[in-house]
Amino acid sequence: MDLGLTGRVALITGGSKGIGYACALGLAREGASVAICARGQERLQQAAREITSQTGQEVLAVVADLTTQAGAEHFVNAALQHFGRLDILVNNAGSSPGGSLANLEEHHWMESLNLKFMGYVRTTKAVVPHMKAQRWGRIVNVIGNDGVKPIYFELTPGAANAAGINFTLALAEELAPYGITVNAVNPGPVDTERWWGLVRTMAREKGISEEEANALAIKSIPIGRLCTPEEVANVVVFLASTRASFVTGASITVDGAQRKALMDAH
Ligand SMILES: NC(=O)c1ccc[n+]([C@@H]2O[C@H](COP(=O)([O-])OP(=O)(O)OC[C@H]3O[C@@H](n4cnc5c(N)ncnc54)[C@H](OP(=O)(O)O)[C@@H]3O)[C@@H](O)[C@H]2O)c1
Repeated sequence: MDLGLTGRVALITGGSKGIGYACALGLAREGASVAICARGQERLQQAAREITSQTGQEVLAVVADLTTQAGAEHFVNAALQHFGRLDILVNNAGSSPGGSLANLEEHHWMESLNLKFMGYVRTTKAVVPHMKAQRWGRIVNVIGNDGVKPIYFELTPGAANAAGINFTLALAEELAPYGITVNAVNPGPVDTERWWGLVRTMAREKGISEEEANALAIKSIPIGRLCTPEEVANVVVFLASTRASFVTGASITVDGAQRKALMDAH
């Protein structure tokens, strides 16, 4: 299937590793030019070189911290200046401290909301005027199944994710008349560096080893294994494509049925 992505310009936040890297690679493979951002320059530039060598596509690497509006605008403006247009935004850069209520201080909550929720709001606000002017755009928010599956040791990700899903669905309605689609992709456990950080928190909270915590998580996934970053990216790339023209306001869970199984159990 030709996804109709040739010549499109895609911005991916947090594209230096994990799910963001897989999304950038997937979009470049389909013919899009990509701009990626992260805070760490070395890893970001390495990612850009790898994507170009695998796909032949131009990749712009922009060091940006999305915890401020200025950081988000810097990323969007740099991409716009370089490519002269933008068509697709994949909001992905996020990290939320895990832990249960007693172990969380106010700053943990604020950190989670500031990047995982407000980071998405900031970049979205910066791209929408350009997408509206060209009457075409794709916004895909990589959120997380904790937003639809409350769990006591993932409180701050759960709150930020629930807010993100609400934001996604509300904007879809407002932006549909402009040809802009807005969708959420909600992964469960995905084998990235971030996952192993979450495993450490889970092990601490439950008083078990990291191996036991990982095995416990896998036991909760009916498919019986962690998701790969590419399996999330495949859904993101489709939603970003011209083929997904009537899909907007969707919240798609990519979790091997983990949410369904856990909700049934409670
Ligand atoms: N892995 C999972 O199990 C899982 C499950 C559900 C949802 N998710 C969501 O999927 C998204 C990607 O997760 P991942 O596992 O791929 O994470 P990851 O491997 O930790 O990668 C995160 C990316 O975001 C960048 N980043 C972090 N803080 C940033 C900031 N302040 N400004 C700009 N960039 C920043 C990182 O680079 P720098 O550190 O250099 O900035 C990196 O490129 C996140 O939103 C996460 O919540 C992940």
